[in-house]
Amino acid sequence: CNYLVEKPREEIIDILTDGLQKLEYRGYDSAGLAISGDAPGSALIFRETGKVAALKQKIIAQDFDRKALFNSHVGIAHTRWATHGEPLEKNCHPQKSDPTAEFLVVHNGIITNYQDIKTLLQNKGFVFESDTDTECIAKLCKHIYDTNIKNNVDLDFQQLMKQVLLELEGSYGMLVKSSHFPNELIGTRKGSPLLIGVKSDQKLKVDFVDVEFPDVSEQQTLSPHFAATATTSNNLLAPLTAHDHLRQSQSRAFLSEDGVPKPVEFFFSSDPASVVQHTKKVLFLEDDDIAHIYDGELHIHRAKKEAGDLGIRNIQTLEMELAQIMKGPYKHFMAKEIFEQPESTFNTMRGRIDFVNHAVRLGGLKSWLSSIRRSKRIIMIACGTSYHSCIATRSIFEELTEIPVVVELASDFLDRKSPVFRDDVCVFVSQSGETADTILALQYCSDRGALTVGVVNSVGSSISRQTNCGVHINAGPEIGVASTKAYTSQYIALVMIALSLSDDRISKTQRRIEIIDGLKKIPQQIKEVLKLEDTVKDLCSSSLNDQKSLLLLGRGYQYASALEGALKIKEISYMHSEGVLAGELKHGVLALVDDQLPIIAFATRDSLFPKVMSAIAQVTARSGRPIVICNDENDIADAQKLLAILKVPTTVDCLQGLLNIIPLQLISYWLAVNRNINVDFPRNLAKSVTVE
Ligand code: G6P
Repeated sequence: CNYLVEKPREEIIDILTDGLQKLEYRGYDSAGLAISGDAPGSALIFRETGKVAALKQKIIAQDFDRKALFNSHVGIAHTRWATHGEPLEKNCHPQKSDPTAEFLVVHNGIITNYQDIKTLLQNKGFVFESDTDTECIAKLCKHIYDTNIKNNVDLDFQQLMKQVLLELEGSYGMLVKSSHFPNELIGTRKGSPLLIGVKSDQKLKVDFVDVEFPDVSEQQTLSPHFAATATTSNNLLAPLTAHDHLRQSQSRAFLSEDGVPKPVEFFFSSDPASVVQHTKKVLFLEDDDIAHIYDGELHIHRAKKEAGDLGIRNIQTLEMELAQIMKGPYKHFMAKEIFEQPESTFNTMRGRIDFVNHAVRLGGLKSWLSSIRRSKRIIMIACGTSYHSCIATRSIFEELTEIPVVVELASDFLDRKSPVFRDDVCVFVSQSGETADTILALQYCSDRGALTVGVVNSVGSSISRQTNCGVHINAGPEIGVASTKAYTSQYIALVMIALSLSDDRISKTQRRIEIIDGLKKIPQQIKEVLKLEDTVKDLCSSSLNDQKSLLLLGRGYQYASALEGALKIKEISYMHSEGVLAGELKHGVLALVDDQLPIIAFATRDSLFPKVMSAIAQVTARSGRPIVICNDENDIADAQKLLAILKVPTTVDCLQGLLNIIPLQLISYWLAVNRNINVDFPRNLAKSVTVE
C-alpha cells in the first residue's frame, strides 16, 4: 500500500517506553516490550526488573539496527505489579509461547485456572520458564494454533483467540502478537480495562466501530474448564501503525472523508494517560470484546453474544490534557496533587452548584433522583481512600436524605455475601473506576437488581460504564499512588449527591443553604490550609521523622480524617499509624500512650468538640503530648501541654474534614521525603489495583 506510516524502530521503541512511563504509577516493579524483527519469528524482546528507566538503559546498551524502517508494525509493552511470581526478569511481560516467540502476550489481571492449563500443557511437552499465569496464555495460543494446523483448520487471528478465551477463567486485559499473523494485533478484555486510541491525520468519517457477533458454531472447547489461583500484572500498551483501506461499508473501517485512504495509528492501552499525547480519540472496549487489527483496520468481535449488548463502540474524545499528567514545577505528583486541591475541588462543583439559588444539579443523576429517594437503604461500597470518603459523608447523607446508609469495604462486603435487595441503592466510589474488588461488588449488586450509582474520577472506566447512573468527580488525572485530591473531590461529590437528593425537603432548606454556602468557600479555605506547609515541615523534622508509630484521634465527622490521615502516613512514609475513634481510646488504645508516642488529635469545632477534648485530656494526663488540629488555639485548654497546634479555618461541621485532611497529607508527604522515600512510587503498592 502507498499510504503507510514509516517509522524507524527507535521511534517505535520510544513510543512504547514513553507510554509505559506515563502509566508506570500503576505498577513499577518490572517492565518489558517486544517489537517486530526483520523476519517472521524474530521479534525483538527487552525485559528488565525495576522501573521503565532501567528497561530504557537495557535497550540503549543493546546492539541492534535502530534506524531500520518499518511501515507497518506492532509493538507491545508492559509495566508490572507482581502478586505471584517475584519481580524477576523471567516473570516480566511479554511472555512467550516458545523460544522463537511465535506468540507474545502482555496481560493485566489474573488467570485463575492457570495452574490447570499449565499442567495440561506441560503434559503435552511445553516447558514453562516463568512463575506467571500469563505464560500459559501464550503457550495455549500456540497449542491451539498447532492443533488447528494439524487438523487442517485455517483460523484467522481472532478466530484463534476466541478458542483461547474459551479456556481462560479469571480477568484479563491483554494484547497478543504473533509471528504467524505479522502486522496484526489482538487486544481483548474481561474485568480489566483496555482502550484504543485512534490517530489519523484527517477527520474520521465514522465515529463508531461496528461489533461483529460470533458465529456460535465456530466455538469449541478444547479442554475442560478448571479452577485455581494465579499471578498478576498490570499495565500494557501497544501502538500499531498501519494503513487504511478504502471500503464501501462503514463497518469496522476508518474511512477518509475524501475517499482517499490515509495512514491510521492505533494505540492500545489500559490507561488514557499513555495515549493522550498521541490522540484524544479513543474507544473503550467492553468485556468479551476482541479487537483485531488487520490490514490497517480495526475490527471488533465478540467472544460471546449477550442479550442487550449494543452492536457499536463509539469513538469518544478525551478531555484530558497532557499537562495534567505531567509534574510541572513539582518534585512529585503527590505534591502537585495536594497543591491542586483549590482548583480540583472547584472543578468538582463547577457548573453543578448554583450558589445564588442554593441549588445543586447533577446531570448524571437527574432522571434517577426519584428512584433513589424511594430506596429503603443506601449502601456505599469502596476501597482504600475512597472508602474513607464514604465514612466522611455517611452522616450528612443520612441527615439530609433520612435514608439509612451503610458503608462497606468492597472485599469484606463480597466475603460476607451481604444481602442486597431490589430497593437498595448501591453507590460505588472509586478514583480509578477499575478497582477489582469494587467492580466485583458492583456486579454482585447489579445481579441482585439494586440501582447502582458510580462516583468515579476516570471517565470511561469500568465502574462509570457499568453503573446505572453517577457523578464524575472531575478532579483531573491523579497519578500519585497516595490519593489526595481524589479524596477531597469524592467527599464534595458525595455531599452534592446528598444535597441533590434532599432538595425536595422543606425541613432541610436551612441546613442545605448552610452547606452550599460552606462549599463555596472551600477552595479558598484549602488555599489557606496549604500555607501550613512550612510549619508541617518543621514539625516533621523536629518531632516526627524518627518515630516508629503514630496515632490519630477523631470522632464524628473527624473519624474519617483520622483513618485517612493514618492511611496516608502508612502508605508513603512506612511509619506505622492508626486512626482511632476518640471514644474508643479508653477501651484499649490508651495502653499505648506514654511521653514518646506521637498523637495527632482532630479538635475542630463541632458538637463533639467537648468529647474530643476529654480524649485529649486523657492523653495529656498520661504524659502524652499530642499535636492538635483545631480552629482556634483559644479553644484548647492546657495548650501548653501540647506538642503543637495546627490551625485550620472553620467551615460547616460536615465539610470540616475537607480542610482537616490537608495538614495530614502534608505531614505524610514530608515524612516520606525526609525518609528519602520515592513518594510517587511507594514500595509494594500500586495506584490501581485491578486484581482481587
Ligand atoms: C489502591 C490505591 C489507593 C486507593 C485504592 C482504591 O489501594 O493505592 O490510593 O484509594 O486503591 O482505589 P480506587 O481507584 O477504587 O479509588
